[in-house]
Amino acid sequence: MSKEKDIIDILGHELKTPATVIKLNAQLLEKFSGQIDKDRDEYERYLSRINQAIEEQLELMEMLLTSSGIEGDNIELNIEKVDIKERIELCIDNFSNQAKGKNIRIFNKINSDTPSVLADKIKIMEILNNLIGNAIKFTNKGSITIQTSFDNDYVSVIIKDTGIGIKEEDIPKIWDKFYRVDNDCKTKYSDNINIVKPGGSGLGLYVVYNLIKMMKGDIEVESKYGKGSLFIFRLPVYKD
Ligand SMILES: Nc1ncnc2c1ncn2[C@@H]1O[C@H](COP(=O)(O)OP(=O)(O)OP(=O)(O)O)[C@@H](O)[C@H]1O
Ligand SMILES: [Mg+2]
Repeated sequence: MSKEKDIIDILGHELKTPATVIKLNAQLLEKFSGQIDKDRDEYERYLSRINQAIEEQLELMEMLLTSSGIEGDNIELNIEKVDIKERIELCIDNFSNQAKGKNIRIFNKINSDTPSVLADKIKIMEILNNLIGNAIKFTNKGSITIQTSFDNDYVSVIIKDTGIGIKEEDIPKIWDKFYRVDNDCKTKYSDNINIVKPGGSGLGLYVVYNLIKMMKGDIEVESKYGKGSLFIFRLPVYKD
C-alpha cells in the first residue's frame, strides 16, 4: 500500500469517526438546551464526549503534520529552557480521567529536584502525550508509573506500564512509521473496521523517536510480552 493511501485511510477513519461522534452528541445536546437544570449530569456527559473527540482529532492532525514535517525535513524547533517536571504533571493531569475510566492508577514518582531541560516545550508535550497515551491504551489492568532521574548532562523520564507488553521480535519495528503490532486493541467506536487497524495510526512512536533525536536526546524500550513495557527517554539538561 502506498503512503498516500495509508494517509487517506487514516484520515478517512480516524478523523471521520470522532467527527461523527461530535455531530451525534451535538444533536443530543440541542434537545437538552431548554432543561439543563433538570438533567445536568447527562448534559455534562455529552459535552465531555464532544470535547474528548475534538481533542483526539486535534492530536491526530498535529501528529500528521509533525510526521510529514519530519519526512520533508522542515520541522522548526523552538529550543528553550523547559520545566520538564511541570510538563509531566500537566500531562498526567490530562490523562487522569481516561486512566480512571479504565481503572488504572497513575503513580507520579517525579524526582522533585529534576532540573529543567533544553528542548521544545510544545514537542515535549507531543512526546509525553504519545508515551503516556500508549501506556494507558495498551494496559487493561494495573498501573502506570512515571519517574525521573538525572545526572549532570541528561534528564531521564521513565514511563512504565503493567500492560500487554511487546513481543521481542516486534520491538525493533515499533518506531517505524504506521507500524502497529497486531493486537486485539479495539477502537472505542467500533470493533469492525478493516481500513486501518483500530485504536491508532501507528504514527506516535515514529514522531516521538524523531523529535527526541532532533532535540539531541535518546529513547529506549524494554518490554515483556504479557507483563508490561518500560519506555525511557532522555533530554539534555538546561545549563545557564
Ligand atoms: N506501552 C505499550 N505497550 C504495548 N505496546 C505498545 C506500547 N506502546 C506502543 N506499543 C506498540 O507499538 C505500536 C506503535 O505505537 P505508536 O504509538 O506508534 O502507534 P499507536 O499508538 O498504535 O497509534 P498512534 O500513536 O498513532 O495513535 C502500537 O500499535 C503497539 O502495538
Ligand atoms: Mg501511540
